[in-house]
Amino acid sequence: MAFTVAIDGPAAAGKGTLSRALAERFGFAHLDTGLLYRAVGARAAEGEDPIAAARGLLPADLARADLRTLAAGQAASRVAAIPEVRAALVDFQRRFARQPGGAVLDGRDIGTVICPEAEVKLFVTASAEVRAHRRWLEVGGDAAQVLDEVRERDARDMNRADAPLRPAADAVLIDTSTLSIADAVAQAADLVQRRIG
Ligand code: CDP
Repeated sequence: MAFTVAIDGPAAAGKGTLSRALAERFGFAHLDTGLLYRAVGARAAEGEDPIAAARGLLPADLARADLRTLAAGQAASRVAAIPEVRAALVDFQRRFARQPGGAVLDGRDIGTVICPEAEVKLFVTASAEVRAHRRWLEVGGDAAQVLDEVRERDARDMNRADAPLRPAADAVLIDTSTLSIADAVAQAADLVQRRIG
């Protein structure tokens, strides 16, 4: 039986941690859709046409070691604004979402575009400062630059014409600015459990 949990939100809001915890708790498969865009961005940064890269994306591209850097995040959000890039990635994500046994997908447009029929939709957010601090703990470097990067990427993701970042009308909002990971997971797991019945 298909059961989809759609988790959207801005950069470093805690989507990944929450998604992995839910997938483990309920035995669902998990797809970090940001990795698809990061992989396309990385190939484009090497000079390939981003649309061709998206159409020819291979599992090995998702295993690259350089996808978590700030530069990879920026490259991802630039190619993510190209409608043909997004279109090339839709079918894979939809098949993943509706696989038997359940799936959690995290990204920017899962509840709005990829899987509007998802059984549970969450929009995970936190203040830009809190998110930038989390990202800085992961990547290090200059904290002010990390905050600028987070703000720039959010603005690009929210203002693009195709599949902009926004909560689905029926998404439940989880603000992780002051919530612990354990509390956020407990809230989300409760929603999933109630929907499973
Ligand atoms: O981990 P973080 O939240 O910083 O970013 P990510 O989820 O890896 O996404 C990287 C970039 O890919 C985002 O800034 C978006 O521009 C793009 N993206 C998207 O457009 N749609 C998705 N479903 C997932 C990511």
